Amino acid sequence: MDRTVNYSEKIPNNVSLGEDRALQRALEHWQPEFLNWWRDMGPDGSLNHDVYLRTAVSVERDGWAQFGYVKMPEYRWGIFLNPVQPGNTIRFGDHKGQPVWQDVPGEHRANLRRIIVTQGDTEPASVEQQRHLGLTCPSLYDLRNLFQVNVEEGRHLWAMVYLLHRHFGRDGREEAEALLTRRSGDADNPRILGAFNEKTPDWLSLFMFTYFTDRDGKFQLSALAESGFEPLARTTQFMLTEEAHHMFVGESGVSRTIQRTCQVMNEIRSDDPAKIRAAGAIDLETIQRYLNFHYSVTVDLFGADQSSNAAAFYSSGLKGRFEEGKRTDDHVLKGANYRLLHVVDGKLVEYEVPMLNALNEVLRDDYIKDSVGGVERWNKVIEKAALPFRLKVPHKAFHRKIGALAEVRVSPDGRLISEAEWNANQDKWLPTSEDRAFVSSLMGRVVAPGKFASWIAPPLTGINRQPADFEYVRFN
Ligand SMILES: [Fe+2]
Ligand SMILES: [Fe+2]
Repeated sequence: MDRTVNYSEKIPNNVSLGEDRALQRALEHWQPEFLNWWRDMGPDGSLNHDVYLRTAVSVERDGWAQFGYVKMPEYRWGIFLNPVQPGNTIRFGDHKGQPVWQDVPGEHRANLRRIIVTQGDTEPASVEQQRHLGLTCPSLYDLRNLFQVNVEEGRHLWAMVYLLHRHFGRDGREEAEALLTRRSGDADNPRILGAFNEKTPDWLSLFMFTYFTDRDGKFQLSALAESGFEPLARTTQFMLTEEAHHMFVGESGVSRTIQRTCQVMNEIRSDDPAKIRAAGAIDLETIQRYLNFHYSVTVDLFGADQSSNAAAFYSSGLKGRFEEGKRTDDHVLKGANYRLLHVVDGKLVEYEVPMLNALNEVLRDDYIKDSVGGVERWNKVIEKAALPFRLKVPHKAFHRKIGALAEVRVSPDGRLISEAEWNANQDKWLPTSEDRAFVSSLMGRVVAPGKFASWIAPPLTGINRQPADFEYVRFN
């Protein structure tokens, strides 16, 4: 397989698209529909901006990206799969040890299509959620990062649409069209998953979203990167290289917000939220409430605690676990158990279920371990400023809408509480409309090179080692 992307074709690719005329025609028919969607639902008012973006030019580990000014509608969205590993075998489930599939096995067709469509739907959804944020960017650097994330989510949509067109015939093409017609937050035709219908109204939400919700993407993609259906494994492996930057945008964005808040707190010698707000920064309590919201909404994305679908996806070799290859069990999991939480006598207690049925929870728990790391790094920023406040991820049963825990009220520290206690405290635990109004009041547009909004510190280094006052976006 050619590792270099062919840019001489209308649709850049490393899958020899030119040798399959029918597929090429089908995708060339979808391409203008995608561009129409981008014009309608992509970043607001950005069509003529020249943006300093990276574009994938190869799937080699080093040197896969090239930087340069691009108008986003001219971004080279394309199809890039990691190279075939000859002799690969399925690593888990009932087909373990058999050769990987290059085509969709008939009996798994419906499940695979569902997996691909569900993943594909999140990609344009997040672009829609973020489309107004460019108008309130805190700096050119941040604006560029937002646009980078947006074009790569667009490319992730391409990655899934390629699989639908190449492997699922007519219904695949229909699904590819439907991916451009659903709309985030639309009452009649919403996106498939809950968190992708929430608003991303301000930049603190964006940073929380890219830290927490793009990390859900990382875990879903990592599980699909193990798939016995090799084209899906190879395409998600490459998507993961792009995803890393999205999470960096989130982690560093929240970190810089906290850094600025701490600086203000030390300047005014106060931890009073009202005074911090008056000084143009976001108080740590509000940051904690945003964290609680985005964390809990994202934890729901992993689905029901017990799921026969999750068992079927695993046993049939379609979707593995995070880092399947590093685990030392039998990779079949029949007879293995896993601990879930439920309520007995007014308390949250653990109980055991067959692990195959609990694979959503396994992935959720792996996600939780991974997301805690960044929160600890944020706390280091506060610690360095010699302030006593610490951020904390809430208990995984807090503010759940999906699974057995959706039926109970749980405090951030994991106590089962009454409806009355919930009502009395939820304004302390989740962003209030007043918090959101305050945060959005800070969202002025800062676009002078090297300048930053009052509520956020500058980054440590520029993108692609550019200087602090680099003109990441040129407005036309
Ligand atoms: Fe994505
Ligand atoms: Fe992403």
